[in-house]
Amino acid sequence: MSDTYQPDGMADSPPRLEVRDVTVRFAGLTALDAIGFTVEPGSVHAVIGPNGAGKSTCFNVLSGVYRATAGSVRFGEAELTALAPHRIAALGVARTFQNIALSPRLSVRDNLMLGRHRLTRAGFVAAGLRLPSARREARVHGERVNEIAAFVGLAGRLATPVGLLPYGVQKRVELARALCMEPRLLLLDEPVAGMNGGERREMAELVLAVQKSLGISILLVEHDMGMVMRLADTVTVLDFGRRIAGGPPAEVQDDPEVIRAYLGAAGGSGEAAP
Ligand SMILES: Nc1ncnc2c1ncn2[C@@H]1O[C@H](COP(=O)(O)OP(=O)(O)O)[C@@H](O)[C@H]1O
Ligand SMILES: [Mg+2]
Repeated sequence: MSDTYQPDGMADSPPRLEVRDVTVRFAGLTALDAIGFTVEPGSVHAVIGPNGAGKSTCFNVLSGVYRATAGSVRFGEAELTALAPHRIAALGVARTFQNIALSPRLSVRDNLMLGRHRLTRAGFVAAGLRLPSARREARVHGERVNEIAAFVGLAGRLATPVGLLPYGVQKRVELARALCMEPRLLLLDEPVAGMNGGERREMAELVLAVQKSLGISILLVEHDMGMVMRLADTVTVLDFGRRIAGGPPAEVQDDPEVIRAYLGAAGGSGEAAP
């Protein structure tokens, strides 16, 4: 892992994310019921809860994929609930998906270059005509992709089609692609789902390295309690769309409501795959 990786562009401390009274209804089902929490600048905040609690729905609202029925999401001065996904991304909010969303036939490098897209100025016409400005820009982005790949331990895999990589490595590519957007807030949806113990520990280290090196805020949706205990500064617990607890991980872990929610869920230990 390289230690030369530095934030690029918007380098000052990230804005606070404030989620207030967010409700999401799908025909008859209340997936989120007036939930709220705050992600402090530079912190790791975990949203946890049993399957179906509303974690992914929450992410989909924050990234603009779902529209909230009510409530507000403020990222610094910006109100996110009215914005389209690309506008939210342009404010520096990058996400990964619970299920891998990469182009399997493309190389790691090409997948990461797609992550640079929102930062590309030259546009498709200039790039297609191979104008000097576009070539220069492509070179700069290519260098940045190399740095980020080295940081997440993918330097040797840049030419490999993503579909040929082991699952745990593909999850790293997803994280790297999100970093290629130079985020100020990184949303990670179950980054260790489906991984074995060793891969989980490596991913946890990587997330901590991202927080330390870049000083960005990280909002983590996670089913694995051990991962949350290792990583999170603060935790919000959802169950059936309601916020049932919140605070430092050690406190939340001992909360009777939280224990009940997890024991009542399939898998019991909270370590089960989604
Ligand atoms: N697009 C959708 N349409 C209808 N129901 C949905 C949709 N997305 C999620 N849900 C429902 O909302 C609830 C919360 O789901 P989700 O946010 O995926 O939970 P989690 O990520 O915590 O497992 C579930 O009951 C799920 O079936
Ligand atoms: Mg989910």
